[in-house]
Amino acid sequence: MSIVDVQNTPNRRDISEVSPWWRQAAVYQIYPRSFADANGDGLGDIPGIISKADYLAELGIDAVWLSPFYPSALADGGYDVADYRGVDPRLGTLADFDDLVDALHSRGIKVVVDIVPNHSSDQHVWFQEALAAGRGSAARERYIFREGTGPDGAQAPADWDSSFGGPAWKRVEDGQWYLHNFAIEQPDLNWSNPEVRADFVTTLRFWSDRGVDGFRIDVAHMLTKDLTEPLPSQAALDAMPRDGQHPMVDRDDVHDVYAEWRKVFNSYDPPRTAVAEAWVDKGRVPLYAHPESLGQAFNFDLLEADFDADQFRSVVTANLELAAASGSSSTWVLSNHDVVRHATRYGLAHPERDAEGRPALKHGLEWLRSGGATSELDREVGGRRALAATLFMLGLPGSSYIYQGEELGLHEVAEISDAERQDPTFFRSKGADRGRDGCRVPLPWNADGRAFGFGDGGSHLPQPPWFAGYAMSGQQGDPASSLSIYRRALELRRALQTDEKLQWIGTGRTDVLRYRRPNGWEVVTNFGSEPFALDRDDALIFSAAPREGVLPGESTVWFASNDDS
Ligand code: NOJ
Repeated sequence: MSIVDVQNTPNRRDISEVSPWWRQAAVYQIYPRSFADANGDGLGDIPGIISKADYLAELGIDAVWLSPFYPSALADGGYDVADYRGVDPRLGTLADFDDLVDALHSRGIKVVVDIVPNHSSDQHVWFQEALAAGRGSAARERYIFREGTGPDGAQAPADWDSSFGGPAWKRVEDGQWYLHNFAIEQPDLNWSNPEVRADFVTTLRFWSDRGVDGFRIDVAHMLTKDLTEPLPSQAALDAMPRDGQHPMVDRDDVHDVYAEWRKVFNSYDPPRTAVAEAWVDKGRVPLYAHPESLGQAFNFDLLEADFDADQFRSVVTANLELAAASGSSSTWVLSNHDVVRHATRYGLAHPERDAEGRPALKHGLEWLRSGGATSELDREVGGRRALAATLFMLGLPGSSYIYQGEELGLHEVAEISDAERQDPTFFRSKGADRGRDGCRVPLPWNADGRAFGFGDGGSHLPQPPWFAGYAMSGQQGDPASSLSIYRRALELRRALQTDEKLQWIGTGRTDVLRYRRPNGWEVVTNFGSEPFALDRDDALIFSAAPREGVLPGESTVWFASNDDS
């Protein structure tokens, strides 16, 4: 039996009474262009989200995280921001945004927005100015421009790879090159330039003043860079230790930026929050989660794990320890807009492995690449395991992130033709990577009707016919549906929420995990296929149809304290 004592907070029953609110929140991620389309142009929008405010309240989440809704040419699904302080006209107006904040706040739901500071869109006025102003100009100093190499500068300044495949440098008309760690349309900003730093502070204040409660920081580990010449090769970069001095990633000096942001966050009452998307060595995560830095960091270990008791237990133990090291709480994520949905990952006949035989970093990509054969996917098994994993996650100390549509048990859409694909990772890998469009397909609200109720103008990514079986309308009144189980679990989670501690309890089975929270809340997950005999009959919720005296295979049960005293 091991006890992870993360933070000694008093017992509580209602998260809204807890300060700070974010430590154990259930956060629902909305990918705005695929959530609900109010104006019928095929693209989700802010009025569409407002129209679903009651749905969100009934779901029982504590906060909504909005992926980018800013003006964007959509070279990377909105993560190419053309104006950090605006709303894409296709999605609405700033007044609509204010209405959304009001609609959510009045229902007790906090609002978190995405900030994308590593790169802007090439359509951003700054980048357009940089192109026009030419070499040596102050406008180019806001980005990372360099002369090329070779006799006429026709070769890139370095042989660096972009994270989306292909080279990381692009030549402009006058012969200079700019750095883009992601798509060509996403030039990296120059964080050594005080003007860039000041502008992001203005942006953080802009949204905080509009009532935004927190920020999700995109690629938080890459802002600052040491571009002292001569630039190292990609091979040299790969070989360098990630010890805070690496020229490109996870540099210690990025925390100077966040220390300044922290002052901004703390100047509000209540302080604004932030969560870092930081792909860094585990031991360095607490630097981002530290209260003087961003305050919390994403932990993606569960979305990389198989549906496996050993893996889940190690992930939980390691991450609670990490969170404790920073004084923050942990985050848990099973699905988001960048990965194959967890119902699908868990339903694949052949778990995917990397070259070393470990679980593949991004499960499901191989399956998508090979055409997404339905014979390889058992949707029922995947859905059953996904619900079991979700209930396991929702009981853990810390914040849980829920990605839109997972409450419906939605699966990844593989049937998207090349011509319909939008994700730059598909184009830049020349189709070798099928990309992330399959988890971004607009939601099915109704079993029939145009675009399954997403909107009257069709859907910007194709919805397959089988979406009808997952529609929200068909699940609402069914107590055994995925949606009903999410709702009930989220309601119970609020009522049961307690200290950020967890105690593992032996089960006598290697494929069954059981943990207890300080107020007696217990979660038992059977990762195996054999039923597990239960020693109590007072279950609060099952992820699968209950059976007398046992926990069926691939399912989770919750109990409250059975202490009558
Ligand atoms: C991480 C985001 O989650 C992803 O969607 C995006 O493509 C990259 N950052 C680049 O902004």
